[in-house]
Amino acid sequence: MRFISSIIAPFKSPSLSDIKKNKIPIHIAIIMDGNGRWARKRGLPRIVGHKKGADALKNIVTLCKDVGIKYLTVYSFSSENWQRPQDEVSELMDLFVEVLQRELESLHKNGIKIVLLGQREIIPLRILKIFEISEEKTKDNKELLLNVAFSYGSRQEIANAAKKMCMEYKNKEFSSEENIEKIFSKFLYTSDCPDPDLLIRTSGEYRISNFLLWQIAYTELYFTKTLWPDFNKKNFYKAIYDYQRRNRRFGKL
Ligand code: IPE
Ligand code: IPE
Ligand code: MG
Repeated sequence: MRFISSIIAPFKSPSLSDIKKNKIPIHIAIIMDGNGRWARKRGLPRIVGHKKGADALKNIVTLCKDVGIKYLTVYSFSSENWQRPQDEVSELMDLFVEVLQRELESLHKNGIKIVLLGQREIIPLRILKIFEISEEKTKDNKELLLNVAFSYGSRQEIANAAKKMCMEYKNKEFSSEENIEKIFSKFLYTSDCPDPDLLIRTSGEYRISNFLLWQIAYTELYFTKTLWPDFNKKNFYKAIYDYQRRNRRFGKL
């Protein structure tokens, strides 16, 4: 019977009961891609796709809590996205402010801690302010850490970490016992998080687009053609189910 179910299992949509409680990823990272294409397919303005994308994220945050994920890092706006047409950038900024203001109370009530990962110096003040208010309000929450990668680029993060580390340890000689990787990690935006166990990218693109390059050294990658606004409970469980069937060797036997 178990043999038969193991054969048919991959063909049905996994539900919560198919997810093993002892193998839940601690940290999931998501490249939420495909909002624009979702809108274009329907003849709608791109911003409608971004709005639907925000709804999809709200849903996934709730699911993370249900499943027992402790860290969720979402790529919401990259350093490179500043180069998009001015109209789209400005509509997106308004949307970030609107969504954060609307959802903050409910996120807080649900024990979610919000942290901004990104280059704060170049974020327009009115957006930075709402992020900082959200961080301050939710700083003691323990249910789920929601990292919002915004104005985020991994190479910038790594280069900046190297610079900060050089400044802090200007005259220090490191002994061979010291774990330099561990020390360096503390200078990254993700200093308080374990590395992601699972990285999901939607919309059928097979690239990383300058996201968490250091942190995903041993992360399991999951790519799906589903466009982000369509990414739902079924897709989410499928990604975790798939992850649970991987054999993570970390180079060992
Ligand atoms: C992801 O969707 C959201 C952001 C990058 C802000 P896109 O806007 O990249 O959607 P596509 O890739 O054009 O479909
Ligand atoms: C990556 O998506 C950034 C976000 C999802 C926020 P992009 O749509 O910007 O990435 P590329 O251009 O396809 O690499
Ligand atoms: Mg895209």
